[in-house]
Amino acid sequence: MIFDTHAHYNDKQFDADRDELLSSMSEQNVGTIVNVGASFEDCKNGVALAKKYPFVYAAVGLHPDDVGELEAAESESGNAIYKWIRETAVIEPKVVAIGEIGLDYHWNVEAHDIQEKWFRRQLDLAEELNLPVSVHSRDAAEDTLRILKEYAGRITAVMHCYSYSPELAEEYVKLGYYFGIGGVVTFKNGKKLKRTAEVVPMDRILLETDCPYLAPDPYRGKRNQSGYIDYVAAEIARLKGLTKEDVIAVTEANAKRFFGLE
Ligand code: NI
Repeated sequence: MIFDTHAHYNDKQFDADRDELLSSMSEQNVGTIVNVGASFEDCKNGVALAKKYPFVYAAVGLHPDDVGELEAAESESGNAIYKWIRETAVIEPKVVAIGEIGLDYHWNVEAHDIQEKWFRRQLDLAEELNLPVSVHSRDAAEDTLRILKEYAGRITAVMHCYSYSPELAEEYVKLGYYFGIGGVVTFKNGKKLKRTAEVVPMDRILLETDCPYLAPDPYRGKRNQSGYIDYVAAEIARLKGLTKEDVIAVTEANAKRFFGLE
């Protein structure tokens, strides 16, 4: 069944029909969803959602646009948000990853040095707790590669919504990292990602929505949801000369291995 490795069902775009939609997942051949944190509030809501649905898991961690919250929580008695992330990841069995964490030089909400500081501290936490990482990297190819080279062999990570070149993808393959591929691969102007999907080995590909964002064709521009991954699997199958069923089965096995859910 489909394994959606990166979703944001805590988003307000799902407020009207969240339960109805999540209850329809098995009919849509969706077997597992990892709901990923961005702000501290998202992390808390994501964990609550994971506790409510047996097939939903959670990743906790602060997105580069939100690390100002972590910075503001620094105090002499420690950092309350960092402490919450650590403790929740330790005690809550539905938390299976740290994320999404990384660098975002597109929006530049936080200074680059602050982004890097918290990216590293959350990578250190993932290493300490032996949890995989969902990496967000936008317009920050050089710095992300520099940092993730240092952590190669120490952490397991997926380049969520991979948006760089096929050439750089080969670097990440060598370093042992995974690739999160979603709706963009179905876009007519998604040539770079189509090339990447062709060159990356099948055992390093994870499927994802990043919902409510990035719905695949023919739903481009609409609200995304995990059932639409069917279109992503179909496009990867076309690019790789496989059947859609093969792509769904292999990526499900990859995701279970990645998150330790075997
Ligand atoms: Ni995301």
